[in-house]
Amino acid sequence: MARGTEPMKPTAVKLDPRGGRPREKSKTYIEGMDRMLNGGIPIGNTSLLAGTVGSGKTTLAMEFLINGAKNGETACYISVTEPSSKMLENLRTYGFFDDSLVTEGKLNIFDLGIINDRLGVERLDGSYSPKDMEALLGAFEDIVDELQATRLVIDSITAVCYQLPDRGSIRNFIFRLGQFLSTFGCTTLLISETVVDAATQTYSIFGVEEAVADGVILMGNVQRQGDLLRTMQIVKMRGAKHSRARHLVELTPIGLSVVPLLKWGQETGAVYS
Ligand SMILES: Nc1ncnc2c1ncn2[C@@H]1O[C@H](COP(=O)(O)OP(=O)(O)OP(=O)(O)O)[C@@H](O)[C@H]1O
Ligand SMILES: [Mg+2]
Repeated sequence: MARGTEPMKPTAVKLDPRGGRPREKSKTYIEGMDRMLNGGIPIGNTSLLAGTVGSGKTTLAMEFLINGAKNGETACYISVTEPSSKMLENLRTYGFFDDSLVTEGKLNIFDLGIINDRLGVERLDGSYSPKDMEALLGAFEDIVDELQATRLVIDSITAVCYQLPDRGSIRNFIFRLGQFLSTFGCTTLLISETVVDAATQTYSIFGVEEAVADGVILMGNVQRQGDLLRTMQIVKMRGAKHSRARHLVELTPIGLSVVPLLKWGQETGAVYS
């Protein structure tokens, strides 16, 4: 048989020699959350941070980035749904925020609108073409690569997904995003705006994002004695043994506090997640 005409033999996956050992974790440094995660989020995982309006998604995501930045990591936040200046004003009311992290380049904030303009990509009022999608993935990759970022948040991925033509493109986009982020060891939270309907058991608007993501962290609400309390649940986290119990979340002036939701008490069962 002439050289080069031999049929290609499929190459089997080789086992990682580190096999069996727990994966290294990216600590959230959030009281209670690292306990739920048995140490933190496995490094390089891309997780959906899903929840209803006002459930604390942006605050949790920012605290994750800022805590990493304070511990020597480089963090990036990509703002899609609200101008970053407004988001920063809100964030300044929390004790964990520190302006110097931004000035020193440890916390890097980008507006997707500006990235789109620079790329010549359609504005957010139109659909992305396959070329736009490639350009956007390339831009995210460049940001993470150039800054050597190890923590990334896209707020929200739902708003990006609305610009993609169909569910197949959404799946492909998130899969490829997750692939290069994992290669870079960049632990990522993709914020997902969920519908107010616990019965559907979906954690995203399009219903495909959670299947591709490595993890799903669900923020919700529970009614107790006339009060609407915030909750958090880890639905899945590849590579970690984690709690699946619903926990109570408090947004305190110094950041999030997460404690187990006690089984006893006045829970009404009215859950909006
Ligand atoms: N300094 C503060 N201390 C405690 N709680 C605060 C503070 N500032 C805002 N909050 C609470 O945080 C809520 C907003 O949280 P956050 O923006 O993180 O939610 P979100 O899930 O991102 O909301 P959205 O769906 O609108 O993006 C406010 O509705 C308010 O109740
Ligand atoms: Mg938000």
